[in-house]
Amino acid sequence: MALAEFLAELDELACEAVAAFETAGDADALEAVRIKFLGAKSGRLRAVQKGLAKVDKADKPTAGKRFNEVKKEIEEAFARIKFATAEDKLHLQEEIAVRLDPTVPGVRPRLGHLHPITQTIEELKDIMGRLGFTLAEGPEVEDQWHNFEALNIPADHPARDPLDNFYMATAEKVAGKSPSQTPPTTGRLLRSQTSTVQIRVMEQLRPPVRIISLGRVYRPDTADATHYPMFHQIEGLLVDRRVTMADLKSVLRLFASSFFEDDVHIRFRPSFFPFTEPSVEVDMSWHGGWIEMGGAGMVDPNVLRAVGYDPEEVTGLAFGLGIERICMRRHGITDIREFYKNDVRFLHQF
Ligand code: PHE
Repeated sequence: MALAEFLAELDELACEAVAAFETAGDADALEAVRIKFLGAKSGRLRAVQKGLAKVDKADKPTAGKRFNEVKKEIEEAFARIKFATAEDKLHLQEEIAVRLDPTVPGVRPRLGHLHPITQTIEELKDIMGRLGFTLAEGPEVEDQWHNFEALNIPADHPARDPLDNFYMATAEKVAGKSPSQTPPTTGRLLRSQTSTVQIRVMEQLRPPVRIISLGRVYRPDTADATHYPMFHQIEGLLVDRRVTMADLKSVLRLFASSFFEDDVHIRFRPSFFPFTEPSVEVDMSWHGGWIEMGGAGMVDPNVLRAVGYDPEEVTGLAFGLGIERICMRRHGITDIREFYKNDVRFLHQF
């Protein structure tokens, strides 16, 4: 017999034997397969071994060597299956399932996506960008000039109350002494509003100014369905000659109808902010029911003076809206806390 023929027969036997071991359902079946292939008297391996005698003499060493290898391979396959742990068996089953059925669907990789608040921020930037507003940024740890003073909120104003703001610990507090009860006038705090960025921008640029700023703000509120100690605002500021309240309403209406796409209404209610005069609360209605989106108004002359602008020359409009509210309204989300639990079952829906 030719060597090639003998080797081919061996290879085929090895494949068949290994597959038979792997698919044997239980211990009895495995034993039956062992006898079929490795049985001393009439096993398949024994039968092939008989063929070895017929191989040409010169090829005998090669043929013999390969025979021994295959024999070992089959014996090892048997031992591997026989002594496999339950876990090994499970893996094997999976492997075989894949080997036997190439149409078994794969495991779909779980793709992530942007957080709903991040998506909203991107969309707001896009809309306001088309209305000609450029992006400005400011720090989240702010000084009192930018968070209060320049915004026409003087030292004795209740908005500066330590209970309503996250002040950074002072040296005396760190040293363990009791902090003073009066609102601090120096030292930093986590900004309580993005209006800080109005000041930072106007300090840097001469009018006309047309910016938005989006980011986190912090207030020591107890978390409930509508409050969270950290949330996001979008601030808008437009300063130029002859800017009026009509421009403010136009900008906000354009903004609202671009974001909510179909018929959305906005309304102004008289309000008060130290840094705008007149001031309004902005409500929006979309698919029924008014909800409060934030504050707005005409930039107070004191603010323009604080940054070296001439209130006789220019006027400005400003607004600050809650981004969580906008996002909740759009998606019908009823609890702000959901955004920050990091529960992918919730986040995955948006
Ligand atoms: N900063 C105000 C707030 O956080 C909102 C606001 C911004 C009001 C700009 C008027 C002008 O409530």
